[in-house]
Amino acid sequence: MKKVFITRIIPEPGLNYLRQKGFKIELYSEDRTIPRKQLLAGIKDADAVISLLTDKFDREAIDKMNNCQIIANHAVGFNNIDIDYAKEKKIIVTNTPEVLTESTADLTMALVLSCARRLTEAEKFLRGGKFEGWKPMLLLGIELKDKVFGIVGAGRIGFETAKRAKAFGCRIIYFDNEKKANFEKEFSARRVSLNSLMLSSDIVSVHLPLNKKTHHLINRDKLKLMKKSSIIINTARGEIIDEKALISVLEKKQIFAAGLDVFEKEPNVNKKLLKLENVVLLPHIGSATIEARNRMSLLAAKNVAAVLSGNKPLTPVYN
Ligand code: DGY
Repeated sequence: MKKVFITRIIPEPGLNYLRQKGFKIELYSEDRTIPRKQLLAGIKDADAVISLLTDKFDREAIDKMNNCQIIANHAVGFNNIDIDYAKEKKIIVTNTPEVLTESTADLTMALVLSCARRLTEAEKFLRGGKFEGWKPMLLLGIELKDKVFGIVGAGRIGFETAKRAKAFGCRIIYFDNEKKANFEKEFSARRVSLNSLMLSSDIVSVHLPLNKKTHHLINRDKLKLMKKSSIIINTARGEIIDEKALISVLEKKQIFAAGLDVFEKEPNVNKKLLKLENVVLLPHIGSATIEARNRMSLLAAKNVAAVLSGNKPLTPVYN
């Protein structure tokens, strides 16, 4: 019986699927990130692994995998895996694209609205017993209509976010390494340089994968280009924005607000961020809907079953 090692409890659909296909499931069932030692022990004789973005599959881990045919990452991002080395070792790597696109775009808009209308600040104000009645100048925010919405990375999630932003009356511009004809047509959007996007956007929303090229792509110089009234949102990966530089522009109120679902040193969140009023902070919940997580679990399981049955994976990250 082929063994599938799963590094943490995932939603039932994937587990059921693997059981029905007759695979032996070994699961790290505690509700915390698997300790490294247990990870290395669990993957040793596994035929397949379902991994999370919190598990590092570097050379050391990959070298421990004696039988493994596939690492099925339960995430669309796969920066936790040394892809080049996995490829060298002929281990297939898959991710879970498409199934979480809408949920992540929804959360992006939730952050946009929270920042623009100061929702977390307003709720704290009310819960703190400070609400004395309606006031003309109380907690004034920003209206979205006619604002320039800059999408950094016009892939699937960028596309769905643009759709939502357009429905709120925003004008869309985008930065991407490639021209995206469909995106341009759908949103009458212009492709611009990153500098130009940072300069002219009222809202900047980051939707890029993390890799060597995108690490700190949004650095101090880029952040300094932003308008005083602008908002930056990150639901991609923390390391794409230089967090120290972001904290500095937020402290100096050089931008209006930031909405962050991801951080450079997750799960640690810089204490300075926690003190700021003009930032909305979420614990990496972009894809955290019942629907998306069920689909992610099932897709990861289908990738595993396909490969262990000698078929092609559904969503490989390299060919
Ligand atoms: C992903 O899938 O990469 C998200 O960040 C986690 O839901």
